[in-house]
Amino acid sequence: MYYPDELIEEIRAKNDIVDVISGYVRLQKKGSNHFGLCPFHNEKSPSFSVSQPKQMYYCFGCGAGGNVITFLMEYENYTFQEAVKVLADRAGIALPEMEYSEEMRKAESHRSRLLQINKEAATYFYYQLRQPQGQLGYEYLKERKLSEETMKHFGLGYANKYSDDLTKYLKAKGYSEGLIREAGLANADEKHGMYDKFWNRVMFPIQDINHRVIGFGGRVMGDAKPKYLNSPETPVFDKSRNLYGLNFARTSRKGNIILCEGYMDVIAMHQAGFTQAVASLGTAFTSGQANLLHRYTDAVLLCYDSDGAGVNAALRAISILREVGMTGKVMNLEPYKDPDEFIKNLGAEEFQKRIDAAENSFFFEIRILQKEFDLSDPEEKTKFHRAIAKKLCEFSEEVERENYIEAVASKYHIGFDNLRRLVQTYAAQTGLAKPVERPKSGVQKKNTPEEGIKRTQKLLLTWLVEQPQLYPKIKKYISPQDFTEELYVKVAEKLFADLEKGTVNPAAIISMFEDPQEQNEAAALFNTKLMEMETKQEKEKAFHDIVYAVKRNSYLYDSGRLGSDVAALQRVIEGKRQLEELGKAHISLD
Ligand code: CTP
Ligand code: MN
Repeated sequence: MYYPDELIEEIRAKNDIVDVISGYVRLQKKGSNHFGLCPFHNEKSPSFSVSQPKQMYYCFGCGAGGNVITFLMEYENYTFQEAVKVLADRAGIALPEMEYSEEMRKAESHRSRLLQINKEAATYFYYQLRQPQGQLGYEYLKERKLSEETMKHFGLGYANKYSDDLTKYLKAKGYSEGLIREAGLANADEKHGMYDKFWNRVMFPIQDINHRVIGFGGRVMGDAKPKYLNSPETPVFDKSRNLYGLNFARTSRKGNIILCEGYMDVIAMHQAGFTQAVASLGTAFTSGQANLLHRYTDAVLLCYDSDGAGVNAALRAISILREVGMTGKVMNLEPYKDPDEFIKNLGAEEFQKRIDAAENSFFFEIRILQKEFDLSDPEEKTKFHRAIAKKLCEFSEEVERENYIEAVASKYHIGFDNLRRLVQTYAAQTGLAKPVERPKSGVQKKNTPEEGIKRTQKLLLTWLVEQPQLYPKIKKYISPQDFTEELYVKVAEKLFADLEKGTVNPAAIISMFEDPQEQNEAAALFNTKLMEMETKQEKEKAFHDIVYAVKRNSYLYDSGRLGSDVAALQRVIEGKRQLEELGKAHISLD
């Protein structure tokens, strides 16, 4: 952690969670909590709650939860440090300068110079587009059906017909020739000296997820070649780790991200309301980009051109997505070539239908594969079936594989048992693919005994946060070591220490964790809902049951691992005694 804990806590405490979240979600007060529609999953009735006393939020629908820092990390996709910085600014708290080595500082200031010069160039192009000399570009974009608002949103611009005006402009602003060249905005040779890289093109500034301009794409306004010219890679422009449009798409909350090929495609889709569209940067889709997408979604819709090159690119993208544990779906844009043309001709509503009808990527692969075989020839048909079986071996998880065998068998009229045997033969020969780690889903898992015991532990922690006066009554029975998950133990240690001091501050406990997933989990510990109970008697029984269950589980766990360890033995004996006492004890909720 870069900042001291006390400072983080001060920043957290000075940003009231209801104030901050109200800027994003419409909240309504109900009792001591505020409720609204959860911004992290689609829902029609509010299950997203924000508690002012606890300074925490929690969604009973999807389990998202945490403190004000978590919220910004999840909503804006900030890192922990970024979220802290934004909140510090918001509360007017100065952050200490980070301690960098000399080398890091130099690299950092070089990078920021490159970002600055890009921003300067983008502003220049933007301005030119709106001048008489930019008329041509402006009309071109109008003709491609972009609205003024869209051009503005994407910061589109125009590079003049002169071959050195940008260079002159930047030099006048004090940028060195070296930097201009390094940013990829100009080249130099002996005969001509410095000359602009882009001229007489409409300009697409490429932004990173924080809306900083890191490079450019420029398009000719006719059929000349090359159609697009792109900035080279620079220290701030890594083409394999950025995606065009992601700065907007990442907060679009459509439940999926559409991956396409072109800048114009992204812009056309956003203009039509599909703000979840992104494109790679004039290069093939990479695993770095797949990982980047995985931060924001599990559902990628491939929307590549309908031609042969587009199909091949889609096939490659599917396997790259699979490598990082995602399964894509493929959109069909026939009879149009790309999303831009599709939307221009058929409109947004039809496009939405194509989204809804996107094909499972495995079926897409099989359908393409089929084209290589003449199925009227039995020989070829057998080969096709073998090829399918081989592909099915890519599913390492049995249930999934079986489901696909079933689906493919019925789709292609192959006997299920035959196909299954064929798959087994191949699997025996070549082995199954390595298991890919599945993305964590928001779907609640089935109840297992472990889930049950975790739930009682959560209930206990929630109860203690809500009624701290109960702590003295249970502390002789329960210690942090009675919790079974590492994260729970950490949380309980801090909570119990706070309770000893007579203060409860659950929101502060959450910032002990930097990983938003862990913050979610910690938040769940303080937001586990118990069934509504009427009488005090019922409540007392429930509380007693919970304390007893937590202790009993911990005792069983310890005794199950009993070896020659004396301390463990003592714990078990003590645990047994406490458990017996607890069994007879009455814990009053007053
Ligand atoms: N591209 C490129 N260099 C080229 C051609 C294409 O870098 N000479 C990249 C660009 O990023 C472009 C994408 O590949 O956005 C898709 O190319 P293409 O399908 O040819 O262009 P469109 O996006 O359809 O562009 P337009 O609609 O403007 O013709
Ligand atoms: Mn196009």
